[in-house]
Amino acid sequence: MKVSPITDTKQETFEACLRWHLSVVKAIGSRGIIGSYNYLDCFCGEGHYISPNDNKEHEGSPVIFSKAVMADYFPFPINPYFNDKKQEHITQLETRLRFDVDFQEFELFNMDFQDFLNSVHLGRDKKAIYGLVYLDPYKQLTLDELATVRSFLSRYSRIDVMLNFPATSLKRCIGAREKSGYNYSDEYLSIDATLDYLGKKHWWIRLPIQGDKSQWCFLLGSNYEFNGAYRKFNITSLKTEKGREALEHFALTNEQKQNKLQRSFL
Ligand SMILES: C[S@@+](CC[C@H](N)C(=O)[O-])C[C@H]1O[C@@H](n2cnc3c(N)ncnc32)[C@H](O)[C@@H]1O
Repeated sequence: MKVSPITDTKQETFEACLRWHLSVVKAIGSRGIIGSYNYLDCFCGEGHYISPNDNKEHEGSPVIFSKAVMADYFPFPINPYFNDKKQEHITQLETRLRFDVDFQEFELFNMDFQDFLNSVHLGRDKKAIYGLVYLDPYKQLTLDELATVRSFLSRYSRIDVMLNFPATSLKRCIGAREKSGYNYSDEYLSIDATLDYLGKKHWWIRLPIQGDKSQWCFLLGSNYEFNGAYRKFNITSLKTEKGREALEHFALTNEQKQNKLQRSFL
């Protein structure tokens, strides 16, 4: 799988956020109200990638998740669901998890992620169902795809969401449609609109990476207010000034940034 040089940073951010998330849910779980923790990796890949930075094999999100879970004790069942629409990725992932990592308890799905989220059932007692949906496509999601995510999240309010996508190409899609007089909101949502649309109360963002032309934007949304920020990994709440500045960086085009700067001098 061909990947961008930013992928190593994405994996570090993912691992930090995941461990942070697991530790917060575990703390809630010590009070005994969690029925299960469900991890839904919608675009899971084959479990590894070759980094262009060192030409070495690095772990993909399903392996990072498995190792984080194996390294700790959780007083509730953990249910991992790994989905990818490419059959070959799922086959490779199964071998990797079972034989290389020695991780055995998981379910595999081989379909489009919308069908996966629409069909997966996690149980009846929705208040006891915790977890995380991870969305790591190569591209921005369309409104139709976001609608599926929103519908899933509205069914499971205690399942949080992590999202990683290239903000530059989203801005390009929106810009191209605006120029042609097309109503882009029928097809794509801006980042701010996406956050409102997905319906989570609290959001965290990874600060921009210098020199990242694709502007990979990493977000975590929850209805639960985790404490503070995770500064070591440059992750901060959108309630902080730094968080709001980061969101603007990802949401505004250069032209919009320039106009804003000019207005501030008037
Ligand atoms: C960026 S990679 C995921 C990387 C993975 N999170 C990791 O850390 O290694 C995106 C993956 O999504 C899969 N994919 C692309 N479109 C999809 C779709 N509509 N539904 C499900 N999987 C899809 C691709 O086959 C690819 O394996």
